[in-house]
Amino acid sequence: MERKMTVADGGGGFDPGGVRRDFSILESGLVWLDNAATTQRPDGVLAAMERFYRRQNANPRRSVHRLGNEATQAFESARERVARFIGGAPEEVVFTAGTTAGINLVVGGLAEEELGEGDEVWVSAAEHHSNWVPWQQAVLRTGATLKVIPLREDGRLELDVLRAGVLRGRTKWVAVTWVSNVLGLENDVAAVAQIARDVGARVLVDGAQGVAHLPVNVGRMGCDFFAFSGHKMYGPMGIGALWGRGELLAEMTPTVFGGEMIARVDDGESVWAEAPWRFEGGTPHVAGAVGLGAAVDWLQGLPEGAHEHEAVLARVAAERLAELPGVKVWGAQEGRLSLVSFSVEGIHPHDVAQVLDDRGVAIRAGHLCAQPLLRRLGVAAVARASFFPGNTLEEVERLVTGVKAAQELLA
Ligand code: ALA
Repeated sequence: MERKMTVADGGGGFDPGGVRRDFSILESGLVWLDNAATTQRPDGVLAAMERFYRRQNANPRRSVHRLGNEATQAFESARERVARFIGGAPEEVVFTAGTTAGINLVVGGLAEEELGEGDEVWVSAAEHHSNWVPWQQAVLRTGATLKVIPLREDGRLELDVLRAGVLRGRTKWVAVTWVSNVLGLENDVAAVAQIARDVGARVLVDGAQGVAHLPVNVGRMGCDFFAFSGHKMYGPMGIGALWGRGELLAEMTPTVFGGEMIARVDDGESVWAEAPWRFEGGTPHVAGAVGLGAAVDWLQGLPEGAHEHEAVLARVAAERLAELPGVKVWGAQEGRLSLVSFSVEGIHPHDVAQVLDDRGVAIRAGHLCAQPLLRRLGVAAVARASFFPGNTLEEVERLVTGVKAAQELLA
């Protein structure tokens, strides 16, 4: 134990305390290990949102007065920052309510129009519900078939099955998660995209669990669409973004109709505005976009070693938990990014979480919005600790001690 902790501490001399100081909510000593469900927000993000409402509030892209222009400027500058962050162009970034909304937009605005009887859509066994249910409903509505890329023993995608499957069938869409919210492993989405492109299929990547931990470049991924949420990357809830290739956004039909998504409205028909605004009907969540822009700045300003630090915490936590009799850790240790899911023999994960909560440690327990994966693992629920760069090795120890206490109390 001593040895492992020394190795972790020596990981580049990273100081989690410096990161923590940005989060007022952690001042109470709360041990927040539920970052994969939602991160906390740095004070700078909250201040940027407050500044918008206090100083710049107006409805953007409508009013010609000074504040109207400032609100438009704040909104569009956030779009530019998000675009730079993911390596795309601003006109290819659609603000959405989050990952789920972005995927539903692609499914409703494009995929469903292209799918028909005999077509196939591939998802992977590692999807959370956001990237499973919209496709499941799309195939039910269109007569297409949902195919599932299985996972290998180590939790990574069995790409040979996808490769063989796309050659055999009529694959139109492949939709995969970049990082599993249960196993914490990165999938080779560039390889998935290549396999899909070779048969002319379109590719969507669910980036929800990756954006806070890995450098993003949609061009290098080779995907057609990339969806993510603000609240899992230190931004506000209720805002996210969908990046899409320009030529595909131009083909995609809006799914929300109304204000500001139009170029002209006649009595009987309308002409849509250009992308991305045609997909942002109604008054947008400007404070959310501003907060997301500030979150991007915060994330990009993290000191060197921040992401290695969270990976070290996840790996140390996984090792320490696996050493406890009766504890099973899910997923491979190699490549584990920032979280660990585990089961404690004879104790329901909710009870584990409750005992930890009583000790000031917040983890997530349940199906993690990933029932298809949990079914394949043979469990109905798991416990999960997920980290950010402000977490510490002491907090990992509190997690492990809390799990031991749950065992003593309940096993
Ligand atoms: N998908 C989110 C999680 O993993 C909600 O907790």
